[in-house]
Amino acid sequence: MALLARLEHIVKDFGAVRALDNVSLDINEGEVLGLMGDNGAGKSTLVKTIAGNFQPTSGSFLFQGRPMSFSGPADARREGIEVVYQDLAICDNLTAAANVFLGREMMRRLGPLRVLDHGGMNSRAAELFRELKSETRPADLVNRMSGGQRQAVAIARTRLSRSRIVLMDEPTAAISVRQVAEVLALIRRMKDQGLSVILISHRMPDVFEVCDRVVVMRRGRKVADKMISQSSPEEVTGLITGAIQSA
Ligand SMILES: Nc1ncnc2c1ncn2[C@@H]1O[C@H](COP(=O)(O)OP(=O)(O)OP(=O)(O)O)[C@@H](O)[C@H]1O
Ligand SMILES: [Mg+2]
Repeated sequence: MALLARLEHIVKDFGAVRALDNVSLDINEGEVLGLMGDNGAGKSTLVKTIAGNFQPTSGSFLFQGRPMSFSGPADARREGIEVVYQDLAICDNLTAAANVFLGREMMRRLGPLRVLDHGGMNSRAAELFRELKSETRPADLVNRMSGGQRQAVAIARTRLSRSRIVLMDEPTAAISVRQVAEVLALIRRMKDQGLSVILISHRMPDVFEVCDRVVVMRRGRKVADKMISQSSPEEVTGLITGAIQSA
């Protein structure tokens, strides 16, 4: 698997709190990486550092071999690094299609005017949902959608922008069993399309079902980085709690 990005000795301090303590991590193309750890272990901070929300206190981030320094999420997005949250970053009062195109609306000419190309956006969004094998319809309002359908919208956004890395922070924490299966299927499809996915989850079965590799964080440190096939839920649980120091 080709190396896409590399974190080297990342430290992130919030005042006296060291949220990330010398974390190095490789991100490979077409790989689903599970990121696990107890509350406060530093998972979200790690994801937000990759996504440009936080600047590391020290350490470097290489993307396609080049050192990167993002001053905000827009910089990261330009490089194809996107975050999918369960509900955030989606506007409830807009349709699915409008959300997919939020901030990058398609326009068309109408005489001397440029107007929103609703028809174009609806048909492109319909195409993206078809690709994702989601039953989401472009004209549906997001506030009437299930958690799984919302994620299809968020993921369709990432398809539109030719993403390379998709970061998912607890996407299956608050959705039904059927929707979890739908989200895991979406993750597999992203992987098949060559994207790198980083999945933060507290749900052991999800991680063992869909991830190629698992990274465990404890108190800001990376305590394990293993192929899923070389680990077990028991070992990961031990690593999360500290019963196992490292693996
Ligand atoms: N913006 C912030 N300002 C100050 N401290 C922060 C900030 N964000 C996170 N922290 C601290 O950094 C540490 C790591 O937090 P982080 O949110 O990364 O944990 P997490 O692994 O995502 O936990 P959870 O499973 O509860 O989501 C915690 O001690 C937290 O209090
Ligand atoms: Mg978190």
